[in-house]
Amino acid sequence: MAMTEPTTTGLAAPATPGPVERAEGLGEDAPVRPRTAFVGRLEIQWDPRILEPRPWVAEQSRWAALLLTDLPPGPVLELCSGAGHIGLLAVAGTRRELVCVDVDPVASRYAADNARRNGLADQVSVRTETIADAAEHPTAYSLVLADPPWVSSHEVTRFPEDPVRAIDGGADGSALAIDCVRTAGRVLAPGGAMVLQVGSETQLDGPVAAAGAEHGLVEVERRVYERGVLALLRRRDDGGGVVSG
Ligand SMILES: C[S@@+](CC[C@H](N)C(=O)[O-])C[C@H]1O[C@@H](n2cnc3c(N)ncnc32)[C@H](O)[C@@H]1O
Repeated sequence: MAMTEPTTTGLAAPATPGPVERAEGLGEDAPVRPRTAFVGRLEIQWDPRILEPRPWVAEQSRWAALLLTDLPPGPVLELCSGAGHIGLLAVAGTRRELVCVDVDPVASRYAADNARRNGLADQVSVRTETIADAAEHPTAYSLVLADPPWVSSHEVTRFPEDPVRAIDGGADGSALAIDCVRTAGRVLAPGGAMVLQVGSETQLDGPVAAAGAEHGLVEVERRVYERGVLALLRRRDDGGGVVSG
């Protein structure tokens, strides 16, 4: 079930975060000032109610941008978009449409605002909804990007600065990654690709591989970084062929 109607950033845009918002859960009437991060060449605003954009995730965008040069025509879906920087950087400089999905309305507002801030409003829409909701989109996406929460529940206290909902991936950290694979299996166009971020190769080898087998996706390449792991998944019925990247 969609929690809000989709919003095209260039049209009926969600409220811009503005210079100062009042934040529930940060202390009574605590002012929340937007902060600025730079991800690749994009200027991205966020505040501590959502996950701080980490520079390394630009690697996911760069891989995606390279893949997009070969993938069939069609839009890009970004699951768990947060402030939107991964998807925005992936489609910047292309004509690809980007649909950002996040369950957190604060994240959605920032994603929409960041699209406008970086001159991408015309090609970006933002939906406040769950990963499972996105499985019902009537769209065939060429590329699905996903950056789900991937910390195991018993370890979230190690990251007190991070909002729990942004990082809690369930008992073994892979519950939301599995949801993303399931949704990608439903909405990926023939010849499409998924670039998934998780926390460890163990997550990829176990739960993600099992979810892929169930939902018709197979991992064809992975890239391991100090702060996370990226995997390229293709449709098994496409032959699981490697795309240059
Ligand atoms: C690890 S953060 C990634 C955010 C962003 N991509 C980044 O790099 O900062 C995960 C995001 O998933 C969102 N999220 C958590 N559970 C979700 C769900 N069931 N459906 C959609 N989004 C969800 C959170 O609100 C959070 O913004």
